[in-house]
Amino acid sequence: MKVNFVDIGRQTSSIREEINEAIAKVIDTSGFILGEEVELFEKEFARYCGVKYAAGVDSGVSALELSLRSLGIKEGDEVITQANTFIATVGSIAAVGAKPVLVDINPENYNLDIEKIEEQITKKTKAIIPVHLYGNPTDMDDLKEIANKYNLKIIEDSCQGHGAKFKGKRAGSFGEFGCFSFYPGKNLGGFGDGGIVVSDNEELINKIKMMRNYGQSKKYYHDFLPFNKRLDSIQAAVLRVKLKYLDEWNEKRRKNAKVYDSILKDLVITPKISSDNESVYHLYVIQSDKRDELLSHLSNNGISAGVHYPIPIHLQKSFSHLNKKEGEFPVTERIAKRIISLPMFPELKKEEIEYVCEKVKEFYKNSLFLF
Ligand SMILES: Cc1ncc(COP(=O)(O)O)c(C=O)c1O
Repeated sequence: MKVNFVDIGRQTSSIREEINEAIAKVIDTSGFILGEEVELFEKEFARYCGVKYAAGVDSGVSALELSLRSLGIKEGDEVITQANTFIATVGSIAAVGAKPVLVDINPENYNLDIEKIEEQITKKTKAIIPVHLYGNPTDMDDLKEIANKYNLKIIEDSCQGHGAKFKGKRAGSFGEFGCFSFYPGKNLGGFGDGGIVVSDNEELINKIKMMRNYGQSKKYYHDFLPFNKRLDSIQAAVLRVKLKYLDEWNEKRRKNAKVYDSILKDLVITPKISSDNESVYHLYVIQSDKRDELLSHLSNNGISAGVHYPIPIHLQKSFSHLNKKEGEFPVTERIAKRIISLPMFPELKKEEIEYVCEKVKEFYKNSLFLF
């Protein structure tokens, strides 16, 4: 058997006609840039998140960057985030000229270790970016308490958290901004790049709408630096169709996670989800003390698995100027050597999950003799 890590084709074929119609509508009107589809999607996605406003942009990293820019965060400022995240989180901080200040992660849920934030706050700190990693929200009550105490803005990196909930409220609706990516493999993925910023702050969302469109306040009046970071109308049309199915697809992911949990829980470390959280399992991540050997065993048996992420931010060449050495973020570093993301997508079949689990079991049975 062959098990893919994700299979976007299965999802597309289930809604093919609706998607074709939505794309055809954009083609027929030739309204390719911004316009009705983008506006409607912004309204629908904001409502879905439980906030008032949204600005569609060209990617998740642009959503983060424009959020920071709209707050006036710039060179000389510091922004706190976690040491294990996708490079884009820190990339957005660097893009506005600010300094990313890294914090180690909580070993239970892989999100920011909230107890380690306060010691990193200085007079230059302006914001915190929690990452709802793997689709499992950060504890936003504890985080908000710190942010309020030091008057810091929260920008949620919800790029893996479409639809996830903390205490019944959607990820992306807690901070000043929630930032999402619509990269095709995301829980809500487009047919190309895309992203969105959601917020209850109308003024800042309007500012981001100008910033994404050459900084234009009205035609040929450019009040802000001129970037083109607009969401395409065809992407918005596709995303409007897919948004209707997001809850159903997330429920299927949770069901798949339950099957994995029930078979693997005594063999490896499976995800720990707090009772306050509703994870959307963008990724299903286990820990193994023989990670690389297990990965090869899975690969030799036709199973695509991944590692998110193998190299922590402070050990990346592009952030060597932060002058952080190996050993400074011990939890992040230990976990980066142990994690494996198993195949996870809504349309994954039960027999495929069982096959993956069977191969994990087989590996441990064989390794008893080998190690
Ligand atoms: C946690 C996180 N932040 C930011 C991004 C950036 O999103 P994009 O690739 O759409 O720029 C991603 C997605 O790749 C992500 O997973």
